[in-house]
Amino acid sequence: MADWSSVPPFGIYVHVPFCAARCGYCDFNTYTASELAGSGASPDGWLAAVRQELDLAVRTVGRRPVDTVFVGGGTPSLIGAGRLGEVLAAVRDAFGLAPGAEVTTESNPESTSPEFFAELAAAGFTRVSLGMQSAAPHVLRVLERRHTPGRAVAAAREARAAGIGHVNLDLIYATPGETDDDLRASLDAVLDAGVDHVSAYSLIVEDGTALARRVARGELPAPDDDVAAARYELIDDRLTAAGFDWYEVSNWASSPGAVCRHNIGYWRDGDWWGLGPGAHSHLAGVRWWNVKHPARYAALLGEGESPEADRELLTGAERHTERVMLQLRLASGLPLALLDGPGAAAATRAADDGLLDPPALAAGRAVLTRRGRLLADRVVQQLVAAASV
Ligand SMILES: C[S@@+](CC[C@H](N)C(=O)[O-])C[C@H]1O[C@@H](n2cnc3c(N)ncnc32)[C@H](O)[C@@H]1O
Ligand code: SF4
Repeated sequence: MADWSSVPPFGIYVHVPFCAARCGYCDFNTYTASELAGSGASPDGWLAAVRQELDLAVRTVGRRPVDTVFVGGGTPSLIGAGRLGEVLAAVRDAFGLAPGAEVTTESNPESTSPEFFAELAAAGFTRVSLGMQSAAPHVLRVLERRHTPGRAVAAAREARAAGIGHVNLDLIYATPGETDDDLRASLDAVLDAGVDHVSAYSLIVEDGTALARRVARGELPAPDDDVAAARYELIDDRLTAAGFDWYEVSNWASSPGAVCRHNIGYWRDGDWWGLGPGAHSHLAGVRWWNVKHPARYAALLGEGESPEADRELLTGAERHTERVMLQLRLASGLPLALLDGPGAAAATRAADDGLLDPPALAAGRAVLTRRGRLLADRVVQQLVAAASV
């Protein structure tokens, strides 16, 4: 058997491009049934095409055991546990799973049930990530979410009861109209659900979304940066007090074994193949991405062609910028050895400004302080700009 211990971890991402309805803030590559009507795209057509892309992937990469699988979306739970199990079986047949592989699927609370989670566990899924966003009904309404506040917590409990070892809840904070007390109630609900992982994202007003149009019309105020910063601190305080540690700026885990290894692969310059419409892939410095529309994606594969839309070979400077940008977001930080003289000097200045942790710096790593986490993009810019002067 080949020895894979010396190569970087290998992940498979599978993009499910279907949602029951589009949430007002979301610009992900996903389609509702009415948007797909007449295009010929369907969950079964998608599954057949993903199998064809998997064949292409094995022919390209060779049989290489997969360390992590992440089925994301869109709404994977919408296509049912049967199809999700078939996708995983196809990945297993094509590449094989490494011992102890992490296998995650995202799910929307309203399209899950105890039976759904039992089927997932039987198929080999080890982790479920649920979009909760908030426990406040008026915040869910602004976000145009369809589930009731309690459904996400109930779904997380059902997943654990079904034997899914790791469960995440996603929160969105600083939504217009959210109060500190709303966020406290959301955090209480998350902790009450007994999950081992929490992702919390500040609401981004993405161009072209219904939310952006409402903000432009003055129907809703734009999220406020100072409010978002205060809410981030509230989240970090509450989760830390409950025994969670941040391991990436927007992610907290209750133990080292609860971190999402698949996402760590993205942040640490790992290799992954993204299957499905619009999915991005990265192998040894080459990046490519698929055509976005599910009908076009299936048609290309049906004709025996690659679904790739375009690719780029990162230059040394681009790879360096990406490494700084991604690794600095991790609690493990960035080895100072990756920075040149001006970059290291900028890191010292950032530590003097309270943005990087001085003891970590003395030990050879750039690790964000909490203030630094709030200003992570600025610190990245400082380190990269200094290094490229
Ligand atoms: C693909 S979705 C998760 C699975 C599922 N579709 C759902 O919504 O429940 C990924 C996560 O990204 C976050 N997200 C998406 N758009 C966002 C935005 N504009 N601002 C902040 N967070 C966003 C949400 O927390 C969402 O749960
Ligand atoms: S947030 Fe999730 S459910 Fe809502 S539109 Fe985006 S992918 Fe679909």
